[in-house]
Amino acid sequence: MENGSRTAPENVEERIKEYVLSRSAAGLPTGVTVLTFGCQQNEADSEKLLGLASTLGFSPTDDPEEAGLILVNTCAIREHAEQKVLSVIGGFGRRKAEDRGLLIGVCGCMPAQSHRIEQLKKSYPYVDFSLDPSSLSRMAEAIGTRLFLGKRSFFVGEANPPIREGIAPLRRRGPLGWLSIMYGCNNFCSYCIVPYVRGRERSRASADIVREAEEMIAAGYRDITLLGQNVNSYRGDCDFAALLARLAALPGDFRLRFMTSHPKDVSDDLVGVIGENEKIAPAFHLPLQSGSDAVLRAMNRRYDMQRYRETVRKLREARPGIVLTSDIIVGFPGETEADFSETLRALREIRFDMVYSFLYSPRRGTPAAGYEGQVDAEIKGERMRRLLALQTDIASEIGKGYEGKTVRVLAEEISKTDPAMLTGRTGGGKLVHFPSPASAVGEFLDVRIERADAYAMYGVPAREPGK
Ligand code: 5AD
Ligand code: SF4
Repeated sequence: MENGSRTAPENVEERIKEYVLSRSAAGLPTGVTVLTFGCQQNEADSEKLLGLASTLGFSPTDDPEEAGLILVNTCAIREHAEQKVLSVIGGFGRRKAEDRGLLIGVCGCMPAQSHRIEQLKKSYPYVDFSLDPSSLSRMAEAIGTRLFLGKRSFFVGEANPPIREGIAPLRRRGPLGWLSIMYGCNNFCSYCIVPYVRGRERSRASADIVREAEEMIAAGYRDITLLGQNVNSYRGDCDFAALLARLAALPGDFRLRFMTSHPKDVSDDLVGVIGENEKIAPAFHLPLQSGSDAVLRAMNRRYDMQRYRETVRKLREARPGIVLTSDIIVGFPGETEADFSETLRALREIRFDMVYSFLYSPRRGTPAAGYEGQVDAEIKGERMRRLLALQTDIASEIGKGYEGKTVRVLAEEISKTDPAMLTGRTGGGKLVHFPSPASAVGEFLDVRIERADAYAMYGVPAREPGK
């Protein structure tokens, strides 16, 4: 039942729908809950999983207690992410004991690794199936195999699977929408598991992307994020800069974002397109990873600090005020105190608006896991604390600069803590809290910022919403 053998029961989708109806008639839960870990690509995949499950008769619910199908969409990027996922899966054993017909599937990056499949088979007998990122469309087959043939299946697709169009995602983020444009990664940074779990780069045809964007705009999405593991190495029938220009030329009131970019693939054409198109949000996530050329080389990043600084300069020149964010890995094997100081120096000099920092985590099968000079956990922790302190200072200073200014905000949702407040984001992606009626969700508003800290801004609408 693995690696591509197709022995799905006949009429599997119809039979699953009947099964769901029979559960409903017996008073058993028929919801589907997808628990998502990891990156935005995974969040987008979860919307597809939800779309697929609802075509089989399951109705989306956030409460696993109401679910007849629980899908855990997993991440493998760091040890911590995997441990969290395993403890969540472990918690479902009790549910399964109470409800034998409950279906539990593990999806995403973890079950793309053979040692994790072995672990699921042995230690998690109540997991009914797994689907790696390239096998998501086989959900019905996996469920049918369990229900009608009594077997568990653990699907792992090819490293280079064809793109399957036509899986309608069930989007649930109000006016925000993900739009996947490419999958996989060819870069093989020495620390990273992604190329092993998500396979080689594949780009969707530009016509399919443009059509989906048009549909999203017509359906009211106001903030569309183009997604790819290396979004700017998109290579369909045109390059990323040309695709972005085409999308930015579509009519309608919306803004475009994209992530995640690789610094080596930021072309002058791309910088030019960002400079010329107001519909492209003034935000760029550009993972630096380290400020030391020696470490960047060991990471196989294929740029150096000079090149990176030059890219930042061009972006800021093309789009003054562009919000720059980054990822940093702390404690990569061989990172010395001097290397780490270079990273701090780069943060001081570039002044990112926000930095996501991670302790290096060795990943099985990646080159860096076997490198000499693994950094002691205590040293890693101490460096992380210094980095966070510096970056918090920088982000607070940048935040202060917004006080008294008016920013354009897309109202995204009602605040979780105060129903009279809405939360939204600026074009640069900064979080803003402001009082407004719920009816303003989905609107662009001008908000005057009264107070800002390192993480969020607080203000009041400059005019009443809708006026
Ligand atoms: N250890 C720590 N951080 C990692 N990242 C990727 N792989 C690892 C790893 N093995 C970080 C990188 C990447 C972000 C998504 O996760 O900074 O940009
Ligand atoms: Fe995690 Fe990478 Fe998989 Fe995203 S692609 S879920 S970051 S391992």
